[in-house]
Amino acid sequence: MDTAAELASVAGRPIRKLPTLRGLTVVNCFYEDSTRTRTSFEAAAKRLSADVINFSAKGSSVAKGESLKDTALTLEAMGADAVIIRHSASGAAHTLARWVTGSVVNAGDGTHEHPTQALLDAFTMRQRLVGDGERGRGMGLDGLRVTIVGDVLHSRVARSNVLLLSTLGAEVTLVAPPTLMPYAVESWSCKVSYDLDAELRKADVVMMLRVQQERMSAAYFPSIREYRRRYGLDTGRMALLPEHAIVMHPGPMNRGVEIAAEVADSPRSTIVAQVSNGVIVRMAVLYLLLGGAGEGAAV
Ligand code: CP
Repeated sequence: MDTAAELASVAGRPIRKLPTLRGLTVVNCFYEDSTRTRTSFEAAAKRLSADVINFSAKGSSVAKGESLKDTALTLEAMGADAVIIRHSASGAAHTLARWVTGSVVNAGDGTHEHPTQALLDAFTMRQRLVGDGERGRGMGLDGLRVTIVGDVLHSRVARSNVLLLSTLGAEVTLVAPPTLMPYAVESWSCKVSYDLDAELRKADVVMMLRVQQERMSAAYFPSIREYRRRYGLDTGRMALLPEHAIVMHPGPMNRGVEIAAEVADSPRSTIVAQVSNGVIVRMAVLYLLLGGAGEGAAV
């Protein structure tokens, strides 16, 4: 995050390019749809002067049955120094890292993890609530109360945020309908609550999660209307938050379901800032992996 803070100054310059990764090739390998993650990794790599190859499973030989391993080896044969991978299978990035010699970055694997989303979320919290002073350096999020609300069961963003934010000293509380709370969540490094209004009154950060209907094979709640009434963040609920508290959402949003349009567009919302910070944080990830040690590694 300190590296990202230094790189943030580049974003404000008239020429927003650094020569750091000139001559290196970054492959964006997306087996699942994405707007923010794919484009921000592309922007990040280009701002560091890397060559970028965008590979999408749709329209590729994956549709003819080519395996992840053969696809990865093909891309590596073209000189990929780093592969950014999004895949519907949990563990795909970890498996890929065993097959290729370059760096592998997890851009979201199934319902497992989305580490760079958690990094940009933590960076945004530090920027908005902690600052870049003495307390902002190093760990920085000590005692920050973060409430994560919604479809935790299917959320790789929630998993990565619980791991990262608790590591950085924040107190994380998960709020979800009982049917959307993961099995054995008690073993996670966070608290669990089913009383959203009570948690909002003491939160510094509320992070709303998208209801991931595309991953639901059963009825997890009676209706969208009922979900919105019990777990949606509207202006009435937002008024329960302390004055300084911020509202986050990783996107894409279901406006009118987990978050009301008035809340998403309010001054408390950091949703647009999260997207901008995504480019900066992903620049830092690529810079540290490819420009730093000089050897492949995986995050
Ligand atoms: N937050 C996030 O991962 O968004 P995309 O699916 O658009 O990349």
